[in-house]
Amino acid sequence: MALVITIAQQKGGAGKTMLAANLAAAWAATHRVALLDIDPQRSLKRWHALRTAHGRGTPIGFSDVSGWRLPTELDRLQREADIILIDTPPQIDADATRAIRAASLVLIPIQPSPPDLWAAEGTLILAAAERRRVALLLNRAPAKSRLRTAIENEINGRQLHLLAPALGNRTAYAQAFAQGMGVTETAPRTAAGVEFAALAEAVLETARA
Ligand SMILES: Nc1ncnc2c1ncn2[C@@H]1O[C@H](COP(=O)(O)OP(=O)(O)OP(=O)(O)O)[C@@H](O)[C@H]1O
Ligand SMILES: [Mg+2]
Repeated sequence: MALVITIAQQKGGAGKTMLAANLAAAWAATHRVALLDIDPQRSLKRWHALRTAHGRGTPIGFSDVSGWRLPTELDRLQREADIILIDTPPQIDADATRAIRAASLVLIPIQPSPPDLWAAEGTLILAAAERRRVALLLNRAPAKSRLRTAIENEINGRQLHLLAPALGNRTAYAQAFAQGMGVTETAPRTAAGVEFAALAEAVLETARA
């Protein structure tokens, strides 16, 4: 069975699509990866189209089938891929609920500030109701700050799983995205490339645990 990793967070701009693209790019060389874009904005579709049009990086599967056909599409992707990454919209609708139900791991990016953690509440409740494994990760996090420590303490205090590698606020993410690439492909030896490779490893480990 393929691993299904659903990236969800009701807060807009938290980094869901950036994560889906970069995780897919990081794993593409070693795994059969498929992306499923169920966000009507279709930003991930555009990233994938750029990648394909320019023949960049290892090919990655892509689908944007949603609605009542979503479960059948997931069954099809299960046969084609080792890892399926689902990018969801910034709200919990019927599709996002289906995507969480199907997940081996629900990945929730949060920027280290209270509103981002509050915005994750709906996803946390749904994932718990569906008995899905959850991992949070800090995105756009400063190396050290009082706020980051406070958020980390709150997450740990609630017995939620926080991935150890965090992502900094770096232009390399936007630059790679604009080329249909991931930072592990465009800038493997920079801070972005190194931190993202560590994150990709930690996500896979958690999803397989
Ligand atoms: N760690 C980061 N460093 C710098 N820029 C980032 C980082 N993470 C995300 N961004 C940028 O922030 C913006 C929002 O990210 P993204 O589109 O991935 O968020 P999202 O959660 O998918 O948003 P939406 O809910 O609207 O779908 C993008 O321009 C992206 O390039
Ligand atoms: Mg998005």
